[in-house]
Amino acid sequence: MIPYGRHSIDEGDIAAVVDVLQSDWLTTGPTLVEFEQAVAHTVDAPEAVAVSNGTAALHCAIHAIGLQPGDEVILPPLTFVATANAIVMCGGVPVFADVDPETLLLDPQAVEEKVTPRTKAILAVDYAGQPCDYHALRHIANRHGLVLMADACHALGASLNGRPVGSLADLTIFSFHPVKAMTTGEGGMVVTQQPEYANRMRIFRNHGITTDHQERLARQTWEYQMTCLGMNYRLTDFQCALGLSQLRKLQGWVTRRQAIASQYDDAWTSIPGIHPVSVRPDVSHAYHLYVILLNEEAYGMDRATLFSLLREQGIGAQVHYIPVHLQPFYREQFGTEPGLCPHAESAYENMLSLPIYPALKNEEVDQVIGAVKGIVVSHRLIPTGVS
Ligand SMILES: Cc1ncc(COP(=O)(O)O)c(C=O)c1O
Repeated sequence: MIPYGRHSIDEGDIAAVVDVLQSDWLTTGPTLVEFEQAVAHTVDAPEAVAVSNGTAALHCAIHAIGLQPGDEVILPPLTFVATANAIVMCGGVPVFADVDPETLLLDPQAVEEKVTPRTKAILAVDYAGQPCDYHALRHIANRHGLVLMADACHALGASLNGRPVGSLADLTIFSFHPVKAMTTGEGGMVVTQQPEYANRMRIFRNHGITTDHQERLARQTWEYQMTCLGMNYRLTDFQCALGLSQLRKLQGWVTRRQAIASQYDDAWTSIPGIHPVSVRPDVSHAYHLYVILLNEEAYGMDRATLFSLLREQGIGAQVHYIPVHLQPFYREQFGTEPGLCPHAESAYENMLSLPIYPALKNEEVDQVIGAVKGIVVSHRLIPTGVS
């Protein structure tokens, strides 16, 4: 099976982890600080806080902005459930605004329409690895006094007008899950422009306690204070060692993902009814996902059939995502119903993510393209004779 995504681990990664396993610090040690500083430097952000996964990073970030029960956060529905769940975990109300039908990114106009006196923040999602329109979103945030947050779990290594994702919002969230741009096994990070947010997140990831064991050791004291209700969201030092080693390969991997995407893009020009999600001219796309949209009317086959037939041929296509507002939990708790975000709902019906990851070979990309074309032709979905 060719999966839709997978990690790349080499001997250097393994050696880096083993080094830390043989050191004195397995957690909250010097490798954590080094990893945070390296990511902050890469994405041009002054502060970075490493945590145990992307969901924890979202939770920390929303805690840091001081969300109060009943406060609203505007987000798109075309995301993983964790984006919205983090808002609810902090007592907030997720307010779903629709996406642009071409890019599938949060539509600033839709955001504007959802702002109320209870709105506290915008939580944009860089879907598939493409940065949102942060110029327009910043304008809205400034006008209404909102915090601008980016769920960039797909977009480490992407940029907008030459500015890296991580430098575009007040707080930016990354995930280091194995299918993401780089991995620490499980892992996440929040980068921010504001030291105050970073301080709050460092306390929150460590049970709400204001000092960690290294600081207490340095000050020769056993005393500590718990100032808020926190979690244990710490990331181990050996995971950070893996992260540091992976980070050195990030840019090359993003370039490889972009080359695969362009190989796919070229293929669909000869197939009516299949087109990739649009890419804005001002972005460098990180291509965590490569998503095609199928025009069902053009060839009379639904996405589920294509999904199953690809699976039969050993190609692990996926669907990202069932719009979050259609999940039973959100319908029951927040009364969200079909029709709330028509662009996201229609995209969901027609979308398919095809395999993309740095180790995917050109021949395998051709194999995926050949399989899609073969299925489409054999179902007389497009005129025979298309090669
Ligand atoms: C957009 C988005 N946000 C948040 C997450 C959560 O990240 P993690 O799996 O590291 O908790 C994911 C992971 O799939 C994601 O895709």
